[in-house]
Amino acid sequence: MTESTPTEAELVRHAALLSGADMSHTRPDDDARALTLSDGPNGLAMNLPDWSGKVPATCFPAPVALAATWDVDLVARVAAAIGREARAAGADVLLGPSINIKRSPLGGRGFEYYSEDPFLSGRIGAGFVTGVQSAGVGACVKHFAVNSQETDRMRVSAEVGERALREIYLSAFEHVVASASPAMVMASYNRVNGTYVTQDRRLLTEILRDEWGFEGAIVSDWGAVDDRVEALRAGLDLAMPGPADASRRQILAAVAGGDLEASVVVDSAERLRRLARTWGAPAGRPADLEEHHELAVTASAASIVLLKNDDLLPLRTTGGPVAVIGELARTPHIQGGGSASASATRLDTPLAALRAALDRSVEFSAGYSCEPTEREALADEAVRIAGESDVAVVFLGPGEGSESEGYDRASLELPLDQLTLLARVLAVNPRTAVVLDNGGIVLTSPWSADVGALVEAWLPGQGGGTAIAQVLTGVVNPSGRLTETIPLRLADTPAFPSFPGDGGRVFHGEGVFVGYRGYDHAERDVAFPFGHGLSYTRFAYDDVEVVDDGERSGDVVVEFTVRNVGAVAGAEVWQVYLKPERREGGDRPVRTLAGFGKVELDAGSAARVRATVLPREFARWDDRRDGWVVDAGTYTIEVGASSRDIRLQAEVSRVASGPATTLNARSTLREWLTDPAVGPALLRSAAAFDPGGSTRGFLSNPVILTMIGDLPIERLFDDPSTALGPELLATAVEEARRQGGAG
Ligand code: BGC
Repeated sequence: MTESTPTEAELVRHAALLSGADMSHTRPDDDARALTLSDGPNGLAMNLPDWSGKVPATCFPAPVALAATWDVDLVARVAAAIGREARAAGADVLLGPSINIKRSPLGGRGFEYYSEDPFLSGRIGAGFVTGVQSAGVGACVKHFAVNSQETDRMRVSAEVGERALREIYLSAFEHVVASASPAMVMASYNRVNGTYVTQDRRLLTEILRDEWGFEGAIVSDWGAVDDRVEALRAGLDLAMPGPADASRRQILAAVAGGDLEASVVVDSAERLRRLARTWGAPAGRPADLEEHHELAVTASAASIVLLKNDDLLPLRTTGGPVAVIGELARTPHIQGGGSASASATRLDTPLAALRAALDRSVEFSAGYSCEPTEREALADEAVRIAGESDVAVVFLGPGEGSESEGYDRASLELPLDQLTLLARVLAVNPRTAVVLDNGGIVLTSPWSADVGALVEAWLPGQGGGTAIAQVLTGVVNPSGRLTETIPLRLADTPAFPSFPGDGGRVFHGEGVFVGYRGYDHAERDVAFPFGHGLSYTRFAYDDVEVVDDGERSGDVVVEFTVRNVGAVAGAEVWQVYLKPERREGGDRPVRTLAGFGKVELDAGSAARVRATVLPREFARWDDRRDGWVVDAGTYTIEVGASSRDIRLQAEVSRVASGPATTLNARSTLREWLTDPAVGPALLRSAAAFDPGGSTRGFLSNPVILTMIGDLPIERLFDDPSTALGPELLATAVEEARRQGGAG
């Protein structure tokens, strides 16, 4: 970027820009305004100047809930509203979305992340960025990368193989960068394979910038820089929040001492000036908070997942008494803790909303409390009203403080007193619906077998009370779907043996088998699968057709029909999974999400859905070939209503593609012989090198391949019984190249 060497004064000016002025501002200079950076991913979370609280803002449903809508456009509308509030409050960059993969449901920031699946996380994340930026506010995608836990989050090294890194942990970021051009990316606190991300040149420069084409600025998570000069060299532009003077001195000393190119400093400063020119704008008009509250209600209603329903829901608006039980109905837990939490402008409680929606007598009992002394009496009262009611609605959840940035969750179980209360309520009234109020998933087994209906309402934001009442009464037909599997037991979760690690390292031993990829691979039963969610109507799928097999364009296009065969209007989230041919060793996930959408249908109506599966979805990361590789073979396109409710199937075939294998003397005998181009060339060259035939005989003997196929070929070089050596290998590669093959 830089051509002339800067003067010392210029360098001082550039270096001054590279760390923050304070917790939420960058530093200005003649060519750049100071920018205001503010959290958050479910509503503006801007600190008041005296740190006594946060600027009032619409608290939208937690990110986990936004993703459960499976509705990219709706998420973009929510994000645009957050962007408008950010503009009105004078923020230039919003520190969100948070798109890390939910590796373990114990992760304390699970409420803030979208999914266990990178395809879904990437699409929802891109929608969020597009929405925020449409309001003239830059979005900062975080936390790049592999920041999947809170335990020791500021030092821990995520030990992860390249394939899992690419396929699981980086690909959502890759998609967001490529499709939504975020203003900023935030480098996370943790280390990846031993190197602090803020100082990892391969991640920040080689992958993020050079490979993916990211043109924005890279900011550190707050306090994540360990060595400022090393971080700059790696590609990190802005260290937040500072300290500015020390950082500037270190940078200038490194340039003076010849340890750092001046051009690196200039390039980073220029990127920050560009950021300020693009996104620094005067505060906008006040946002319409009334309209935003309505949007918060809509988003929450669209996020609610009906996990189970034995015809108990929807509740009729007239009829016998309804018992509403649970402190969370009166005092809902609406968002997770930490930097993401917003100061809501108002609060709809489920209790008030149900009272308003139902033309029936509604009795309330808190049922449980945080004060141990009150527990017994509260439970007795709740059981009494449940027994006297036509139906009971019990609100359960781990409660305030259970989920936050800064620490991981202690358990996936609901509090014991709540489960005891539920058992007592069920004993007197089996017509009981449970509403869950939580961010990361909670275990539902075995008790969910006994309830009449189970509703996952997430941390629903300030409009959640109204949304819950709308769904319970059928004003809104539920259409949310799980973005994370609910397992039967914590011990079933793929990351269980190695979460959260110890000794400063966390081994990602499950590799790519995260979430449903892991449960499917192990053929493990789950409580509710990824993608699951019911409706008050039923949908049928038929007539799948591959309308483009992708042979020419690469994109596979399938069409199918979704029919609403029930009695009421509703929205169905259709899901397309890709299932590769099962190969020996089963090193690929059984299926991976490759497309989804939401279709609204009146009772009795149908829609023809067109889904495109992009070439990249067929690919796997190949370590040896250091790139995305498509294996030749048959792939099944599965169309369904969840990862374990596949309704239609179609097949397409693919030819092999991807970078050629780089064979060298350290490659194994098997790699040489099984290479489609070089293998046959090696046999031909062996015959020419050794007319007696023993080299060719040796190489084509199947027993040799079985026994020593994994030997690096160079270890056979000194054996006089064959002609194997560098010359023969070079000839074979050359011969393969002449024939137009790989090598
Ligand atoms: C969090 C980030 C947040 C930043 C600024 C950090 O502790 O990890 O998500 O954006 O603080 O508040």
